Amino acid sequence: MEQVTVKLSSRSYEVRIGGGLLEKAGEEIAPFAPGGRVALVSDDRVDRLYGDRTAASLEKAGLQVSRFTFPEGESSKNMTTYCRLLEFLARQRLTRADCVAALGGGVTGDLAGFAAATYLRGIALVQLPTTLLAAVDSSVGGKTGVDLEAGKNLAGAFCQPRRVLCDTHTLSTLTPETFADGMAEVIKYGAILDRELLELLEQRQDEDPMEEVIRRCVALKGMLVERDERDTGDRQLLNFGHTVGHAIEKRSGYTITHGSAVAMGMAVMARACWKNGFSKDNCAPRLEWLLKRYHLPTRCPYSLEELVEGMLSDKKRGGNRITLVAPMEEGRCVLHPVPVDELEAFLQPGMEG
Ligand SMILES: NC(=O)c1ccc[n+]([C@@H]2O[C@H](COP(=O)([O-])OP(=O)(O)OC[C@H]3O[C@@H](n4cnc5c(N)ncnc54)[C@H](O)[C@@H]3O)[C@@H](O)[C@H]2O)c1
Repeated sequence: MEQVTVKLSSRSYEVRIGGGLLEKAGEEIAPFAPGGRVALVSDDRVDRLYGDRTAASLEKAGLQVSRFTFPEGESSKNMTTYCRLLEFLARQRLTRADCVAALGGGVTGDLAGFAAATYLRGIALVQLPTTLLAAVDSSVGGKTGVDLEAGKNLAGAFCQPRRVLCDTHTLSTLTPETFADGMAEVIKYGAILDRELLELLEQRQDEDPMEEVIRRCVALKGMLVERDERDTGDRQLLNFGHTVGHAIEKRSGYTITHGSAVAMGMAVMARACWKNGFSKDNCAPRLEWLLKRYHLPTRCPYSLEELVEGMLSDKKRGGNRITLVAPMEEGRCVLHPVPVDELEAFLQPGMEG
């Protein structure tokens, strides 16, 4: 088993990574639920696959379990499901001495986390990520929330988990597409902060265990969160490929997955930064090779004008500059604010192969 400690000024927590951890969920979670109740939240697919064994472990540890499930997919990450979950927690009479356990991917973690952050003004949260994306990204760092009609993730709260248990056996049932989505985020960590991770990803065989890869990513995310818990500085490095990627996702009506869109976004940025003379090294060839190796796309199917329009209409954007994450050399990115009226010219060379 691998382990990472995320050390925050308010409180530290452990992230455990290894095969079979769901069977130990009871003993791991019991200390965070002295009131004896756990609300186990998951989407219907994950509940079918892993709900029973997780609930059995919790019950074996003497905990009373109530299960809340919702239809799988991003379209459930909304205020309606969130309110249903709050009402459920209230009906189950959970108190501040009880705990919410989020079993699933990023949708479940964000939704259950937001409910835990706000129910009774905050009760304990444990994250049990079952997608690669949730393991390396969304389960760590404390960002929780739901989508509004006006856009993604527009309502939410910071809520750090008490513990994260990543059972790597669960990755075996992911579809290849969902696994690839997570790999886009893994490659992102290598590109922004960790050249050795890039080497590890080049050398590893598909059947090799994922523990070490996940541990490295969680350690990197933990480091950024420790430095910038509220996401006003260095943590923005995690947006590499995302500013362009969000515009691609939105333009496609969300038919292009998040991971594929981020992959295209990273490739566009790497090419643009090199051809603009901004990067010290040309990071694009190695990045593109890795993305293809893990079945991810590197070309954006939309025109530059469509892309820029999407980026500028981002509801979270403020001011007349847009902060891009720019590769400087392999394993190192920097924040690079670009004036809005120069964005199109900056990205243009990145659109070509
Ligand atoms: N909070 C954060 O910091 C943060 C960071 C990145 C992404 N996110 C959010 O995460 C969400 C995306 O996460 P995701 O890709 O995990 O999506 P998801 O939770 O919808 O999971 C993707 C699909 O995989 C299925 N699934 C989950 N685990 C499985 C398993 N082990 N075996 C088989 N199927 C399984 C789910 O049922 C779902 O259909 C987005 O809403 C995004 O905004 C949050």
